[in-house]
Amino acid sequence: METVVPENKSSIITSALPYANGEIHLGHIASTYLPADIYTRFLRLNGHEAYHICASDDFGTPILIKAEKEGKTPAEYVQYWNKRDYEDFTSLGISFDLFYRTSSPENVKFVQYVFTKLRENGHIYDQDIVQFYCEYDDKFLPDRYVVGKCPFCGAENQYSDLCEKCGRVPDQILEPKCAICGRPPVKKTSKHYFFKLSNFSDKLKGWLLSNSNLQPDVKNYVINWINEGLQDWDVTRDLSWGVPIPLAEAAGKVFYGWFDNHLCYISSAVKLIEDKKPGTDGKKFWNDSNILHFIGKDIVYHHYLFLPAMRMGIDEEYKLPDLIPTRGHLMLQNQKISKSRNWYIGLKQFTTEFNPDYLRFYIASIASYSQTDLNFDFDAFAEKINNELLANIGNFVNRALSFTQKTYGGKIPAARQYDDEDKAAVLEIAAAVKETGALISENETDRALRRILKFSTFLNQYFQKKQPWSNKETADTTVYIAVNAVRSLAILLEPFVPFSSEKVWTQLNLGGSIHQQSWDSASSLIVEAGHALGKVEPIFRRIEPAEIEKQKVKLGAMK
Ligand code: 2FM
Ligand code: ZN
Repeated sequence: METVVPENKSSIITSALPYANGEIHLGHIASTYLPADIYTRFLRLNGHEAYHICASDDFGTPILIKAEKEGKTPAEYVQYWNKRDYEDFTSLGISFDLFYRTSSPENVKFVQYVFTKLRENGHIYDQDIVQFYCEYDDKFLPDRYVVGKCPFCGAENQYSDLCEKCGRVPDQILEPKCAICGRPPVKKTSKHYFFKLSNFSDKLKGWLLSNSNLQPDVKNYVINWINEGLQDWDVTRDLSWGVPIPLAEAAGKVFYGWFDNHLCYISSAVKLIEDKKPGTDGKKFWNDSNILHFIGKDIVYHHYLFLPAMRMGIDEEYKLPDLIPTRGHLMLQNQKISKSRNWYIGLKQFTTEFNPDYLRFYIASIASYSQTDLNFDFDAFAEKINNELLANIGNFVNRALSFTQKTYGGKIPAARQYDDEDKAAVLEIAAAVKETGALISENETDRALRRILKFSTFLNQYFQKKQPWSNKETADTTVYIAVNAVRSLAILLEPFVPFSSEKVWTQLNLGGSIHQQSWDSASSLIVEAGHALGKVEPIFRRIEPAEIEKQKVKLGAMK
């Protein structure tokens, strides 16, 4: 296994943009933000120029409806969520280089440019369609503005773009009503613009087949969709909140959210680079970089078909993604997470009650690189933290450092001759660094964490076998190797548990910050004899059964 840091000198990593209409919950974290953050932190430790970009997804009918209900302007409403989401992500150590917004002036300008170019290239056509219209509110009623009875399952009070009971899209909703005033709407004609997704079937297929990085299982079913025939996309909405369509004939119309949101990956990256590196051409930087879009499996269609087709439609002025790491959904106590049924845990609540690294550690250990759904289970969470993070990793770190403190006054002794066990330990340090690196670079986050745990188990056994407390002869060498191994462990853990790694770093008293260290340096023994440790104390604490019971009760009470 080789550590594969992308050959390009830089990488732009994006995480799917959260809608600016509600709090970030654990489900968001598992599929997208944490895997993206781990990958970015790993690249940075490898001296690679890596930028993690995200933004709030500000447009769309649900946002407009919620803002109206709260008596706020949509701009005020999304501003609140933009700030709040960023704070919540930060509390978990998600290290964005920029958390921007789809409603930014840069994005609006870029979206309009892309539309104009797609139209010039013949990929946009207009057509009159019949839509619901509320004469009382004087509004067209797209998507969530219409509620009624689902024609498939008969459920009342469902949206015309999604029946939450049966999961189908009932575009011929029965007994339709305006979601704002409850009155029955009329039907009216409106001119809409369509993106000819069907123009790109062959090109998309060629791209998917020739890109060996893309996950094979996702690729296969996306190719099936192409074979079944792609539908053109209506990219217009008759709303006041959105990116205005830049045509005089389309006054009062805006783009559909999925036309503009993914373009924000590009407009935000370009802004970040041009602000950060004056004189650099953001577009060239994008095209010279490795591009990764991290997503959850519910938005595969948009990212594997719609997004690349739009870039193809503007002659690939901005390169297509190199990789779209796609993961399954998180279940909560074996049930589907649902905001509307109050079955979710807000990120903020969690990071207020538990060490954020506990969540990172647990989620990273279950987030496999596949579309299989994951399950958040409170008992498994406590078990993982207590048995692995605390009893394995924390135990070794604290044992090695506090022994050094107690026996050597915190000063690292000089190693003497290595015996076979010492030699094996030195080899294991190098092997752990190499193999963990290879796994993270392949996005195999859960497997990488298991490799680190194997390393830590090895170190515990090494320390136990060498018994430095009773073997005076070999104790100096054991302690020298053990403290160096703590340093290696801290670096390997940084992408996963950055707050705790930083604490270990402080206890090691090596200066600077953990994220300034180099991944490869973790395979060498760098802490020298005579170096003095800082203050040593346990990093992790046990999660007690009562805490878990409390969480379960709280969750149950929300329902
Ligand atoms: O599904 C969602 O939550 C969307 N807001 C994701 C947008 S990602 C995009 F910008 F490509
Ligand atoms: Zn109405």
